[in-house]
Amino acid sequence: MDNLQILCGDSLEVLKKLPDESVNCCVTSPPYYALRDYGMDGQIGQEQTPEEYVNKLVLLFREVRRVLKNDGTLWLNIGDSYVGTGDKGKHRDPKNPKGRNAQVVSKNRIVEGLKSKDLIGIPWMLAKALRDPFYTGVVKNKLDRVWLAAMVDTEGSICGTEYQTNDRQKTNIYLSITNTSLDIINKCENLFPQEVKHIYEKTNYNSNRLCYRWDVERIEQKSLFIKEIYPYLVSKRKQAILAYTFIEMQRGLSSKKKGYLKDQQEQRSWIIQSLSSLNSGIDVDLPDWVIEPPSLYEEGFYLRQDIIWHKPNPMPESVTDRCTKAHEYIFLMSKSNKYYFDNEAIKVPSKQDWGTRDRTKGKYHNEGSGLQPHTGLTKSYPMANKRSVWSVTTKPYKGAHFAVFPPDLIRPCIMAGCPEDGTVLDPFGGSGTTGQVALEQGKKAILIELNPDYIPLIEKRCLQQLLTI
Ligand SMILES: C[S@@+](CC[C@H](N)C(=O)[O-])C[C@H]1O[C@@H](n2cnc3c(N)ncnc32)[C@H](O)[C@@H]1O
Repeated sequence: MDNLQILCGDSLEVLKKLPDESVNCCVTSPPYYALRDYGMDGQIGQEQTPEEYVNKLVLLFREVRRVLKNDGTLWLNIGDSYVGTGDKGKHRDPKNPKGRNAQVVSKNRIVEGLKSKDLIGIPWMLAKALRDPFYTGVVKNKLDRVWLAAMVDTEGSICGTEYQTNDRQKTNIYLSITNTSLDIINKCENLFPQEVKHIYEKTNYNSNRLCYRWDVERIEQKSLFIKEIYPYLVSKRKQAILAYTFIEMQRGLSSKKKGYLKDQQEQRSWIIQSLSSLNSGIDVDLPDWVIEPPSLYEEGFYLRQDIIWHKPNPMPESVTDRCTKAHEYIFLMSKSNKYYFDNEAIKVPSKQDWGTRDRTKGKYHNEGSGLQPHTGLTKSYPMANKRSVWSVTTKPYKGAHFAVFPPDLIRPCIMAGCPEDGTVLDPFGGSGTTGQVALEQGKKAILIELNPDYIPLIEKRCLQQLLTI
């Protein structure tokens, strides 16, 4: 089946193998937080905290973003849960063929910072995290990066050396922080760990006290460290630019054995001398060939809409102090600010066709008021834009899967989000609803599912769909 790929495995790992910009849209519903146990190691939804759950999904949807074409969209169905609910005791889900317990003790029984009965707010936590720029460096906490930069500015050194060995001239860049407090040095190491030995003890000649030095080793690490601290440096910004340029030259060297090109050699010597001048308080004008360390932030998704999935037939709830939950979210997100969206394909009949009429003499046109006259409707509009509240009944699914979304819910997502001959991705394939609907519309589908027990369900649904066509 050329138009269907079913990939069994952990979706983050499988996604990493898919090529960049290869799918048109992604329509998916991840396991909700602490709601169901799919009984598999590596499953999403069983994390200890909502933050951990959201962070895991952010990592996964970053890969989805990479795999999406630049005009691609993500349609993300996600529900919420309350703190202190979800324990299923010894309940065995009849639809789980292996009869595993659903959730003896729910993960959301206690959530730090929230009270029992609080709505966690998972959908918006996730939507905002996916919209936010993603930090690709290793020092994830901004305060830690600011602290490291301040240490480099005050107690650190960005310098270079040039020395002669038997056969040739050698140059190197050093990045280090020196302090009499081992705690400070250890904190540097904790925030930006090094593979090799890098903490040195030496005597502080001014005071005869021991002091310690932390060095960033290896070229890749030096490049990354400069990118992490650069935005927050105050006094050593020029040193950082020069050191980064030097390192990039080193990394870009076509063949280390052949040595640097002549002008590169001159530039490197100039950088070493300039670093020395800057470190002695002598200012240097930077030439135009220097390279400013790039940002480590990756752009997030554009959060375009929160579509409400209204369920006319919600699960009954025995609560008496709030309304029965009858909705979930579908977030429409795009990779770029302009994206493929076939608005016409999902238009709905207008409730009322206003017809055409001239309103320029209407009662709201008040001569001399300065207001522009109503231009009136020149055309009849029997169809209207689809609204952002979608009423779709949940449909029972006979197969052995307990969290299936209804085909009617995702039909508009695929109609609007995927062009003819395009490809739809679902990294949480489940029973294969996304595959079924994509094939029904003559589109291609890639489904990823962790649990091998569900693969025959996907195959059956999709095959039936192909036979129907
Ligand atoms: C909510 S269900 C999806 C149901 C699907 N939309 C449908 O209509 O059938 C979530 C699915 O994600 C799968 N899953 C959980 N963790 C996963 C992971 N790390 N990688 C891939 N699939 C995973 C579960 O096994 C489950 O089938």
